[in-house]
Amino acid sequence: MDLEQAKQKLSKYQQEHLLKYFGELTDYEKEQLLQQIEETDFSAVTRIADKEEQQKQGKISPIDVMQLSEIKQNQEFFTQTGKECIRAGKVGAVLLAGGMGTRLGSDAPKGMYNIGITKPVYIFQRIIENLFEVVDEVKTWIHLFIMTSEKNHEMTVSFFKEKQFFGYDENHIHFFRQDMAPASDYQGNIYLEEKGKLATSPNGNGGWYTSMANAGLSAFMKQEGIEWLNVFAVDNVLQKVADPCFIGAALAKNCEVGAKVVRKNNPDEKVGVICLEDGHPSIVEYYELTDMLRNTMTKDGEPAYNFGVILNYLFKVKSLETIVSRELPLHIVKKKIPYLDENGRLCKPEEPNGYKFETLILDFIKLLSSCLPFEVEREKEFAPIKNKTGIDSVESARRLLKQNGITL
Ligand code: UTP
Repeated sequence: MDLEQAKQKLSKYQQEHLLKYFGELTDYEKEQLLQQIEETDFSAVTRIADKEEQQKQGKISPIDVMQLSEIKQNQEFFTQTGKECIRAGKVGAVLLAGGMGTRLGSDAPKGMYNIGITKPVYIFQRIIENLFEVVDEVKTWIHLFIMTSEKNHEMTVSFFKEKQFFGYDENHIHFFRQDMAPASDYQGNIYLEEKGKLATSPNGNGGWYTSMANAGLSAFMKQEGIEWLNVFAVDNVLQKVADPCFIGAALAKNCEVGAKVVRKNNPDEKVGVICLEDGHPSIVEYYELTDMLRNTMTKDGEPAYNFGVILNYLFKVKSLETIVSRELPLHIVKKKIPYLDENGRLCKPEEPNGYKFETLILDFIKLLSSCLPFEVEREKEFAPIKNKTGIDSVESARRLLKQNGITL
């Protein structure tokens, strides 16, 4: 893209200010900036005005969850079916590690965080160890796809190489980058983070499937015969990856997607809640749960919306292919965005100063026709690390890991 074309594109979205320092840039920087402008989708900022409209909620009602008692009764059958599916090479795993992990306050990728006490135990290492539990049991390597972002790709890949993939088969680990989205002020003016660089951040964990496809991995999956993808977050150090029982249950129920859920530990816990929205499986984010819904009880006296998702899903690849072209809702979220001020100096705000534009994996549930909410024991499978201390922190995760016999 040349300067004239860039000006035209920017003027269409009232973003001409992004060329303010163009004259000061080196030839290389100019080229980089023009390329970034060419590649950036600016349409998100035009959606700020109808932000509320897009986040409108349908009619919420409770959904049936496969609870622990039912799972226990069928455990052997589910597990056996799941193992066969893995042995046949039909299951892949997708680790979402493109996030910024801002709450943890480390500049390195979250997976590189060391949670060990007497020895180094990295988050990535914990995940690989969890995957090994199944791989060793079924004696079959499982392809692991790792989503990174432009911000952490190089560091993540070098870390895995340096640690020799924590003993995992290198040929079964595939990295792919997610796309970036621009960040703007509250009026929709995109920020610059350098004189020749727009402020961007990873475009949310909803971009995982298209990013995988763009990286040529759909063809690879087809070639390998992968029919199911277990997609999970980097920060739950206790989760089971490619859990045969979960896979077997989704197969038995013939569902397009399975979602692991835990019983909420209190009505205000910050987890998305699984439910029906206009009669269709859906997830309501914790901040969208009204008091009315929070206090609704079943006839047995239990909270009606008591099961929170832990970002561990099992997707049928065939079903994903049918929805790939459908647009996911855009979540426009207030965040702290480092930016260049009017004097060209970099500012790191203490308070939110604008919007980031993200799509979320939880919105996939709405697009698919059947979902199996699958209850797991939180003490055994849910130790998220979001913060340094307090709730969902390194401290709380360490406690849970020790409780599960893991030496740190
Ligand atoms: P979170 O929503 O907790 O975001 O991610 P985060 O970026 O890790 O942390 P904060 O909010 O900045 O503190 C849930 C999962 O989704 C992944 C994360 O890596 C994590 O596994 N994720 C999130 C992505 O892969 N890409 C994104 O753009 C956002």
